[in-house]
Amino acid sequence: MLAAPIALIAEITHRCPLSCGYCSNPLELERASAELDTASWARVFGEAADLGVLHLHLTGGEPMSRRDLPSLVRSASETGLYTNLITSGVTLDDAALAGLIDAGIDHIQLSFQDSLAGSADMIAGYRGGHARKLAAAARITAAGLPLTANFVVHRRNLDRIGEILALGEDLAASRIEIAHVQYHGWALRNRAALMPTLAQLEAATNAVQAARERLKGRTVIDYVIPDYYGTRPKACMGGWGQRIINVSPSGLAMPCHAATSLPDLTFPSVREVSLAQIWAGSEAFRRFRAPAFAPESCRGCDRLEIDWGGCRCQAHALTGDAARADPVCVLSPDHHLVVEALHAPGRDEVIARSMTGHG
Ligand code: FES
Repeated sequence: MLAAPIALIAEITHRCPLSCGYCSNPLELERASAELDTASWARVFGEAADLGVLHLHLTGGEPMSRRDLPSLVRSASETGLYTNLITSGVTLDDAALAGLIDAGIDHIQLSFQDSLAGSADMIAGYRGGHARKLAAAARITAAGLPLTANFVVHRRNLDRIGEILALGEDLAASRIEIAHVQYHGWALRNRAALMPTLAQLEAATNAVQAARERLKGRTVIDYVIPDYYGTRPKACMGGWGQRIINVSPSGLAMPCHAATSLPDLTFPSVREVSLAQIWAGSEAFRRFRAPAFAPESCRGCDRLEIDWGGCRCQAHALTGDAARADPVCVLSPDHHLVVEALHAPGRDEVIARSMTGHG
C-alpha cells in the first residue's frame, strides 16, 4: 500500500534578492505573475494535511519575498501542519518576525554563505547580507523559536569549516547543517569552481566529527559528504515519489525540486488536480517509484531498498538517462563520469560573483 508523504515542500516564489552560484532553483525560473495566490496555497495546505503530510517547508527563492507569507503560515498552521520557514533572513526584521510568530510559525532555518562577512556577501551577491543574517538569527533565538543554521559549503569556503562551526555554535542554533553543494541546476553549471578537493573534504569531515563530540547533547550537526566523493548513492528525497511532494511557485507538483530538468515528464498542476490524486495516480510520481521501478543495473543489489538506485536527476544530468543507476555508485556502469568530474581541473581563480547565478 502506498504510504502518505511526510513533507510538502512549497516553493512559494522563485524571486530572491541573493544570487548564489549554487542555487537549487531550476535554470528556468517561474515568473512572479505565474505564482499561486494566497487562497490556492491555503487549499493546497489543507489537501496536504488531509493526505497525512506532517511537515510544511516554506521555501523559494526567498519566501519572504511574498507579502502574504504570514497569511500562508497562518493557514498552514490552522490545518495542523508543522511549519518550517527556509529563508536567507536578510529581510527578517522585528516586525516581520513578530508577524510570523503571531501566525504560528514553528521553526526557522537560516542559510549562511560563510563565516566571513566579506566572502559571504560576495558568494550571495548581496552586500551587507551576512550582518543582516546574524541579526535575524539573534532575533529568532531571543524569541524562543528553534533555529537551524544552514551553511552551504564548497571549495570557496570549506577551509573555514572550523570558523563556520564556531559561528553555528555562537548563534545558539539548535541544529547546524553543514550542507555540501548538490550538483543540480546552477551548481552543476558552476561545478568546476565549487567542487572541494579531497584534502578539503577530509579536513572538514574531521572538524565536524570533533564538533559533534564537543557539542553532544546540546546541538545536532547534520553533515553528509558530497555525492561525488561517496561510493554509494543516497535515497534522494527518500525515494522518488515515496516521502515528499514539491510544489513549484506556479503550482506544478513534482517528486523533487530538480525534476523539471528531466525532459520527458509532465507535471500535474495543483490548480487542476488534488494532491491526493497527484500522489497516487500521476504518471510523474509513478514513473520512477519503487518497487515497480528499479534501474536495470541495480536489480538484485542488496542495497536497492536502501538507496533505490540513487538520484534520478543526477542520473539524467550525468548520463542523459534518468532511468540509469546514479553514477555516484561505484557499481554503476557510468561511475567513470563521476571520477572524471573529480579529476577535472578546478577553477580556483574564479571569483564567486562571476559564477553564473540567477541574479
Ligand atoms: Fe531529483 Fe534527486 S534531485 S531525484
